[in-house]
Amino acid sequence: MKADFLNFQAQTTPHPLGMQISHAQGSFIYTTDGKKHLDFVAGVSACGLGHRHPAIIKAIKNQLDKYLHVMVYGEYIQSPAVEFTKLLAKHLPEPLSQTYMVNSGTEAIDGAMKLARRATGRTQIIAARNCYHGNSYGALSLMDYEERVAPFRPLVGDITHIQFNEETCLNVITKSTAAVILETIQGGAGFILPHEDYLSKIKRRCEEVGALLILDEIQPGFGRTGKLFGFQHFNCVPDILVIGKAMASGLPVGAFTASKSLMSLLSDNPKLGHITTFGGNPVIAAACHATLVELTTTSIIDEVTHKEALFRKHLKHPHIKEVRGKGLMLAILLSDPDIANYLVLEAKEKGLILFWLLYEKKAVRISPPLTISEKEIELGCGIIIDILNAYSENL
Ligand SMILES: Cc1ncc(COP(=O)(O)O)c(C=O)c1O
Repeated sequence: MKADFLNFQAQTTPHPLGMQISHAQGSFIYTTDGKKHLDFVAGVSACGLGHRHPAIIKAIKNQLDKYLHVMVYGEYIQSPAVEFTKLLAKHLPEPLSQTYMVNSGTEAIDGAMKLARRATGRTQIIAARNCYHGNSYGALSLMDYEERVAPFRPLVGDITHIQFNEETCLNVITKSTAAVILETIQGGAGFILPHEDYLSKIKRRCEEVGALLILDEIQPGFGRTGKLFGFQHFNCVPDILVIGKAMASGLPVGAFTASKSLMSLLSDNPKLGHITTFGGNPVIAAACHATLVELTTTSIIDEVTHKEALFRKHLKHPHIKEVRGKGLMLAILLSDPDIANYLVLEAKEKGLILFWLLYEKKAVRISPPLTISEKEIELGCGIIIDILNAYSENL
């Protein structure tokens, strides 16, 4: 199987983790060699409700028995997408009332960029240094990571970069700006939180010059920070909200949400301003709806802050310089990148799944299922501390 994986499936790096999956349930992934792995990564935040949550499996199976794909996005009335977008609007503040469902986070970012240009008639889009918004051409063009973008030039034009949390950059936003796009919490950069009123200052500046604020909640969204969406901590409502990942509890999805008047521009001048075959797919929409119902009718989100505190209590070690992030979107900052690397690889051997961050090489990601138990948190943190102790002893 490994040889076929390497031969027939296109690769993203020369050194894939290469675990061969047998099945997954709750907070654990099982491999074909009979080993059980505690999952502190949750599909890079996509499995917010853990693996195969019964409510999600039930919703998917119910929909499978009715119909699968029937028509491109937007033509037929299909109850899963209608019910999901209606429930989402109920849980979002004004003016975020209409949602366009697409197939991935990166497509949702591209859709939001198109909407901002269409709405303002301007071209400039301002993004943050060290941002990550995805890999299709629009989203990739927002990246300022030269090594990653250089081979793919020319990129989408008129992108300007500012430093996240740097208020002196506010005046970069002018009447030429279509939109400012930010991750509410910067992920790949090292799980960096916005300063207290940074986002609201950006929003105010956007309003002054007629630009739109797009917030990328693909990672912090759907409960991960202890509220349904990360922006709800920061007294700032974006003009366009971009979501994905945990939205369907493990099926491929993305979406962007805005006011009805803004969103109507995508169906006029030109008509079909954004189209997709599988966006709003009924099986995926049923999973989205079941996810949102589960998150908003149980104590799962309320428990996130307590679970964060448990992680912080247990993750104390001389090699751990900081635990950064919010809720269950955490990163351990180690003394140097070698220890971070050692920790991820050793943890894999000891039955704990951890992962790296895109830019911050001293960091190790901890983004477990929100449903993780206290016992599982203690178990995983114990493995991390044991590995760091062993590292110190071998120095
Ligand atoms: C903040 C953020 N934006 C966008 C994306 C892209 O989403 P997708 O991989 O679904 O295209 C990701 C994926 O990791 C992300 O973390």
